[in-house]
Amino acid sequence: MFQQVEPTPLDPIIRLIGIFKADNRNNKIDMGVGVFRDSNGNTPIMAAVKEAEQRLHDQQTTKTYVGLSGNESFNSHISQMVFGDDADTSRIRAVQTPGGCGAIRVLSEMLSKVSSDSKVWLSDPTWGNHYPIFQGSGFKTETYPYLNRITKTVVVDELLEGLSKRGPQDIVLFHGCCHNPSGAELQPKHWDEIARLAAKNGFFPFFDLAYQGFGDSLEQDVYSIRAVAKEVESLVVASSCSKNFGLYRDRVGCAMIMGETSESADLACAQLLSTARSSYSMPPDHGAAIVGMILDDQGLRQTWEQELADMRGRILGLRHQMSDKLRARTGHDRWDFIADHRGMFSLLALDDEQVKRLRDEYAIYVVAGGRINIAGLRDEEEMDRFIDAFVNVVE
Ligand code: LMR
Repeated sequence: MFQQVEPTPLDPIIRLIGIFKADNRNNKIDMGVGVFRDSNGNTPIMAAVKEAEQRLHDQQTTKTYVGLSGNESFNSHISQMVFGDDADTSRIRAVQTPGGCGAIRVLSEMLSKVSSDSKVWLSDPTWGNHYPIFQGSGFKTETYPYLNRITKTVVVDELLEGLSKRGPQDIVLFHGCCHNPSGAELQPKHWDEIARLAAKNGFFPFFDLAYQGFGDSLEQDVYSIRAVAKEVESLVVASSCSKNFGLYRDRVGCAMIMGETSESADLACAQLLSTARSSYSMPPDHGAAIVGMILDDQGLRQTWEQELADMRGRILGLRHQMSDKLRARTGHDRWDFIADHRGMFSLLALDDEQVKRLRDEYAIYVVAGGRINIAGLRDEEEMDRFIDAFVNVVE
């Protein structure tokens, strides 16, 4: 059966996790996979999560099935967090999924059934896993311009020009906030412009929202989605609780559909549920039950929002520290963009040789292309080691 199987390359981020683990140097620094770390280098369980988990343990009386769409309290709280209090909920459906990645996949499968001739447009660059997910659902993928690799800012004019050519046969994937891998963000006025273009030309917006709360705030990070939702008739959102609740391994995500009408939202949701049923059947309960409980309880919610704000603060602090130190060290402003980026990542546009030298000579791991996870730096000593290595390799 398997003798003729073609070798399959492992996703570069997953591969890097393995290489890092196997490295015996005790001074190694992991700036690869997108996992938040505190100033001790740990990814602790959030206090609100621990407390909810304890309550769940004490209160839960059964492990019987919850249902195809998962925890409904979770679903409605997540939709509210994404679309806001004023959204027309009669047109919105939400389905709990195994992680944000699972949400992207079931939404993509659903869209491939209702619009099989569409093409999916991804930003250049984008998260590497977007390609196999959409292609695996049968879509052809193309890219639209996003990043200027010299200035590391968004090429707004080219992006808008590219989008102006997209029409009803096109699905356009946007990162709701904290663009992965670049860290370069669009401003609210740009999202307003994108919303107008989507409404005028009829392309279909698909939002990947993996980092709500990691950029500027829970509200500001979904300006993008709310601006577009105001203008268009329908869109979808795949949201993840891996990062903002630190529930990585519990696989907590939500697929959201905004339909033209309540009836069309129901039709799309039924299609999505049938996809879920034929792949994993029902989502895992534990993580979503925790999130649902936190969002439903004023005290737990407050604790969680504060912890999230602290994580965001650490990331922003590291960004400013890195850009200040690079400016002081190099005497120029070429790296100032690091302070303007949002989320855990910045794409430093390094070539393979530079990435390899950082790893081989300095035990510093970054993703191919030079994506750094800034939260991977524990303290000032590690920051200084990174700056030294980086300047030696790049400047
Ligand atoms: C990342 O981009 O590092 C994270 O989203 C983790 C992953 O699964 O790739």
